Amino acid sequence: MSTFRLRVLSDPAEVAVATPALARVYRVAFAGAGEGDDEVRRFVDEQLPRHAERDGFRLVVVEDGDEAVALGYGYTGERGQWSSDWVAGLAPARLVETWVGGHFELVELAVDPARQREGLGARVHDLLLEGLPHERALLTTYREDGPAPRLYQQLGWQPLADLTETTTLYGLDLRPRR
Ligand SMILES: CC(C)(COP(=O)(O)OP(=O)(O)OC[C@H]1O[C@@H](n2cnc3c(N)ncnc32)[C@H](O)[C@@H]1OP(=O)(O)O)[C@@H](O)C(=O)NCCC(=O)NCCS
Repeated sequence: MSTFRLRVLSDPAEVAVATPALARVYRVAFAGAGEGDDEVRRFVDEQLPRHAERDGFRLVVVEDGDEAVALGYGYTGERGQWSSDWVAGLAPARLVETWVGGHFELVELAVDPARQREGLGARVHDLLLEGLPHERALLTTYREDGPAPRLYQQLGWQPLADLTETTTLYGLDLRPRR
Protein backbone atom coordinates (compact mmCIF):
# COMPACT_ATOMS: atom_id res chain seq x y z
CA MET A 1 0.00 0.00 0.00
CA SER A 2 1.30 3.44 -0.90
CA THR A 3 2.15 6.01 1.71
CA PHE A 4 1.62 9.51 0.45
CA ARG A 5 3.26 12.64 1.76
CA LEU A 6 1.35 15.92 1.45
CA ARG A 7 3.41 19.12 1.50
CA VAL A 8 2.29 22.74 1.46
CA LEU A 9 4.50 25.15 -0.48
CA SER A 10 4.08 28.91 -0.38
CA ASP A 11 7.58 30.16 -1.12
CA PRO A 12 8.24 30.83 -4.84
CA ALA A 13 11.79 29.44 -4.47
CA GLU A 14 10.43 26.13 -3.12
CA VAL A 15 7.91 26.05 -5.95
CA ALA A 16 10.69 26.58 -8.49
CA VAL A 17 12.58 23.58 -7.11
CA ALA A 18 9.45 21.41 -7.27
CA THR A 19 8.38 22.60 -10.73
CA PRO A 20 9.75 19.70 -12.86
CA ALA A 21 7.82 17.22 -10.68
CA LEU A 22 4.71 19.42 -10.75
CA ALA A 23 4.98 19.72 -14.54
CA ARG A 24 4.86 15.93 -14.85
CA VAL A 25 1.62 15.80 -12.86
CA TYR A 26 0.15 18.64 -14.90
CA ARG A 27 1.12 16.92 -18.16
CA VAL A 28 -0.39 13.53 -17.37
CA ALA A 29 -3.50 14.92 -15.65
CA PHE A 30 -4.46 17.29 -18.47
CA ALA A 31 -3.41 15.12 -21.42
CA GLY A 32 -6.96 13.77 -21.49
CA ALA A 33 -8.25 17.31 -21.97
CA GLY A 34 -6.05 17.72 -25.04
CA GLU A 35 -3.30 19.76 -23.39
CA GLY A 36 0.20 19.10 -24.71
CA ASP A 37 3.71 20.53 -24.82
CA ASP A 38 2.64 24.15 -25.38
CA GLU A 39 0.28 24.15 -22.40
CA VAL A 40 2.82 22.44 -20.13
CA ARG A 41 5.47 24.96 -21.17
CA ARG A 42 3.08 27.83 -20.44
CA PHE A 43 2.28 26.32 -17.04
CA VAL A 44 5.97 25.98 -16.16
CA ASP A 45 7.40 29.17 -17.65
CA GLU A 46 4.59 31.66 -17.14
CA GLN A 47 1.59 30.61 -15.10
CA LEU A 48 3.15 28.95 -12.06
CA PRO A 49 6.01 31.43 -11.44
CA ARG A 50 3.64 34.40 -11.85
CA HIS A 51 1.00 32.95 -9.54
CA ALA A 52 3.58 31.85 -6.93
CA GLU A 53 4.38 35.53 -6.32
CA ARG A 54 0.77 36.43 -5.54
CA ASP A 55 -0.58 37.16 -2.07
CA GLY A 56 -2.05 34.15 -0.36
CA PHE A 57 -0.36 31.69 -2.71
CA ARG A 58 -0.55 28.13 -1.43
CA LEU A 59 0.30 24.93 -3.29
CA VAL A 60 -0.26 21.38 -2.09
CA VAL A 61 1.79 18.59 -3.61
CA VAL A 62 1.31 14.89 -2.94
CA GLU A 63 4.41 12.73 -3.19
CA ASP A 64 4.61 8.98 -3.38
CA GLY A 65 8.26 8.28 -2.65
CA ASP A 66 10.25 10.52 -4.98
CA GLU A 67 7.41 11.08 -7.39
CA ALA A 68 4.79 13.84 -7.28
CA VAL A 69 1.37 12.39 -8.07
CA ALA A 70 -1.07 15.23 -7.34
CA LEU A 71 -1.13 18.99 -6.98
CA GLY A 72 -3.46 21.84 -6.25
CA TYR A 73 -2.94 25.54 -5.77
CA GLY A 74 -4.55 28.91 -5.40
CA TYR A 75 -4.02 32.48 -4.23
CA THR A 76 -5.93 35.55 -3.15
CA GLY A 77 -8.02 36.71 -6.07
CA GLU A 78 -8.28 40.46 -6.68
CA ARG A 79 -9.79 42.71 -9.30
CA GLY A 80 -7.04 43.73 -11.72
CA GLN A 81 -5.92 40.12 -12.12
CA TRP A 82 -6.79 38.65 -15.47
CA SER A 83 -8.96 35.79 -14.16
CA SER A 84 -10.92 37.89 -11.65
CA ASP A 85 -11.60 40.54 -14.29
CA TRP A 86 -12.62 37.86 -16.77
CA VAL A 87 -15.13 36.43 -14.29
CA ALA A 88 -16.34 39.92 -13.39
CA GLY A 89 -16.98 40.64 -17.06
CA LEU A 90 -19.14 37.56 -17.55
CA ALA A 91 -20.95 36.88 -14.23
CA PRO A 92 -24.08 38.76 -13.07
CA ALA A 93 -23.24 42.00 -11.23
CA ARG A 94 -24.75 40.91 -7.90
CA LEU A 95 -22.55 37.82 -7.86
CA VAL A 96 -19.46 39.81 -8.71
CA GLU A 97 -20.13 42.27 -5.93
CA THR A 98 -20.38 39.53 -3.32
CA TRP A 99 -17.83 37.06 -4.56
CA VAL A 100 -15.06 38.62 -6.60
CA GLY A 101 -12.13 40.28 -4.85
CA GLY A 102 -10.42 39.17 -1.66
CA HIS A 103 -11.53 35.59 -2.27
CA PHE A 104 -9.35 32.48 -2.52
CA GLU A 105 -9.00 31.55 -6.16
CA LEU A 106 -8.56 27.80 -6.57
CA VAL A 107 -6.61 27.65 -9.83
CA GLU A 108 -5.55 24.06 -10.41
CA LEU A 109 -6.30 20.63 -9.05
CA ALA A 110 -4.68 17.68 -10.82
CA VAL A 111 -4.09 14.04 -10.00
CA ASP A 112 -1.98 11.59 -12.00
CA PRO A 113 -4.53 9.35 -13.82
CA ALA A 114 -2.71 6.31 -12.39
CA ARG A 115 -3.67 7.54 -8.91
CA GLN A 116 -7.17 8.89 -9.47
CA ARG A 117 -10.20 7.72 -7.48
CA GLU A 118 -8.05 7.10 -4.40
CA GLY A 119 -9.24 10.21 -2.59
CA LEU A 120 -6.14 12.28 -3.41
CA GLY A 121 -8.02 15.08 -5.17
CA ALA A 122 -10.25 15.54 -2.12
CA ARG A 123 -7.27 15.46 0.26
CA VAL A 124 -5.40 18.09 -1.75
CA HIS A 125 -8.53 20.22 -1.86
CA ASP A 126 -9.11 20.00 1.87
CA LEU A 127 -5.52 20.87 2.79
CA LEU A 128 -5.50 23.72 0.31
CA LEU A 129 -8.51 25.32 2.01
CA GLU A 130 -7.62 24.44 5.61
CA GLY A 131 -7.55 27.49 7.88
CA LEU A 132 -7.78 30.03 5.07
CA PRO A 133 -8.60 33.56 6.25
CA HIS A 134 -10.73 34.29 3.17
CA GLU A 135 -14.52 34.42 3.44
CA ARG A 136 -15.16 32.93 0.04
CA ALA A 137 -13.48 30.79 -2.59
CA LEU A 138 -14.02 30.68 -6.34
CA LEU A 139 -13.03 28.38 -9.17
CA THR A 140 -13.98 27.77 -12.76
CA THR A 141 -14.35 24.32 -14.18
CA TYR A 142 -15.99 22.32 -16.92
CA ARG A 143 -19.69 23.00 -17.39
CA GLU A 144 -20.18 19.45 -18.64
CA ASP A 145 -20.60 16.73 -16.04
CA GLY A 146 -17.37 14.90 -15.20
CA PRO A 147 -14.86 14.11 -12.45
CA ALA A 148 -13.98 17.73 -11.60
CA PRO A 149 -17.53 19.16 -11.28
CA ARG A 150 -18.54 16.05 -9.35
CA LEU A 151 -15.64 16.38 -6.95
CA TYR A 152 -16.33 20.07 -6.32
CA GLN A 153 -20.04 19.52 -5.78
CA GLN A 154 -19.36 16.65 -3.42
CA LEU A 155 -17.04 18.92 -1.44
CA GLY A 156 -19.67 21.62 -1.04
CA TRP A 157 -19.04 24.00 -3.94
CA GLN A 158 -22.08 25.54 -5.59
CA PRO A 159 -22.42 26.41 -9.25
CA LEU A 160 -22.86 30.20 -9.34
CA ALA A 161 -23.05 31.00 -13.05
CA ASP A 162 -22.33 29.54 -16.46
CA LEU A 163 -19.66 31.85 -17.87
CA THR A 164 -19.26 30.35 -21.33
CA GLU A 165 -20.60 27.37 -23.25
CA THR A 166 -17.96 25.19 -21.58
CA THR A 167 -17.15 26.89 -18.27
CA THR A 168 -19.03 27.26 -15.00
CA LEU A 169 -18.11 29.44 -12.03
CA TYR A 170 -18.32 27.71 -8.65
CA GLY A 171 -18.25 29.29 -5.20
CA LEU A 172 -17.67 28.04 -1.68
CA ASP A 173 -18.53 29.99 1.46
CA LEU A 174 -15.54 29.46 3.75
CA ARG A 175 -16.96 31.27 6.78
CA PRO A 176 -18.50 28.17 8.42
CA ARG A 177 -15.05 26.52 8.32
CA ARG A 178 -13.25 29.33 10.13
C1 LIG B 1 -10.77 15.95 -10.93
C2 LIG B 1 -9.63 15.17 -10.29
C3 LIG B 1 -8.65 16.17 -9.66
C4 LIG B 1 -10.20 14.26 -9.20
O1 LIG B 1 -9.12 13.64 -8.50
P1 LIG B 1 -9.29 12.22 -7.75
O2 LIG B 1 -8.11 12.04 -6.86
O3 LIG B 1 -9.56 11.16 -8.74
O4 LIG B 1 -10.61 12.49 -6.91
P2 LIG B 1 -11.04 11.74 -5.55
O5 LIG B 1 -10.62 10.30 -5.60
O6 LIG B 1 -10.57 12.54 -4.40
O7 LIG B 1 -12.63 11.80 -5.66
C5 LIG B 1 -13.41 12.66 -4.86
C6 LIG B 1 -14.83 12.68 -5.41
O8 LIG B 1 -14.86 13.31 -6.70
C7 LIG B 1 -15.80 12.66 -7.55
N1 LIG B 1 -15.10 12.02 -8.66
C8 LIG B 1 -13.76 12.02 -8.86
N2 LIG B 1 -13.47 11.35 -10.01
C9 LIG B 1 -14.65 10.95 -10.52
C10 LIG B 1 -14.99 10.23 -11.70
N3 LIG B 1 -14.07 9.80 -12.57
N4 LIG B 1 -16.31 10.00 -11.94
C11 LIG B 1 -17.25 10.43 -11.08
N5 LIG B 1 -16.97 11.11 -9.94
C12 LIG B 1 -15.69 11.37 -9.67
C13 LIG B 1 -16.49 11.63 -6.69
O9 LIG B 1 -17.59 12.27 -6.08
C14 LIG B 1 -15.41 11.32 -5.67
O10 LIG B 1 -15.93 10.82 -4.48
P3 LIG B 1 -16.15 9.22 -4.31
O11 LIG B 1 -14.86 8.57 -4.73
O12 LIG B 1 -16.46 9.09 -2.84
O13 LIG B 1 -17.27 8.87 -5.22
C15 LIG B 1 -8.93 14.26 -11.34
O14 LIG B 1 -9.91 13.51 -12.02
C16 LIG B 1 -8.08 15.02 -12.36
O15 LIG B 1 -6.91 15.34 -12.10
N6 LIG B 1 -8.68 15.28 -13.54
C17 LIG B 1 -7.93 15.93 -14.64
C18 LIG B 1 -7.59 17.36 -14.32
C19 LIG B 1 -8.82 18.20 -14.01
O16 LIG B 1 -9.84 18.13 -14.68
N7 LIG B 1 -8.70 19.04 -12.98
C20 LIG B 1 -9.73 19.95 -12.57
C21 LIG B 1 -9.68 21.16 -13.41
S1 LIG B 1 -10.84 22.39 -12.84
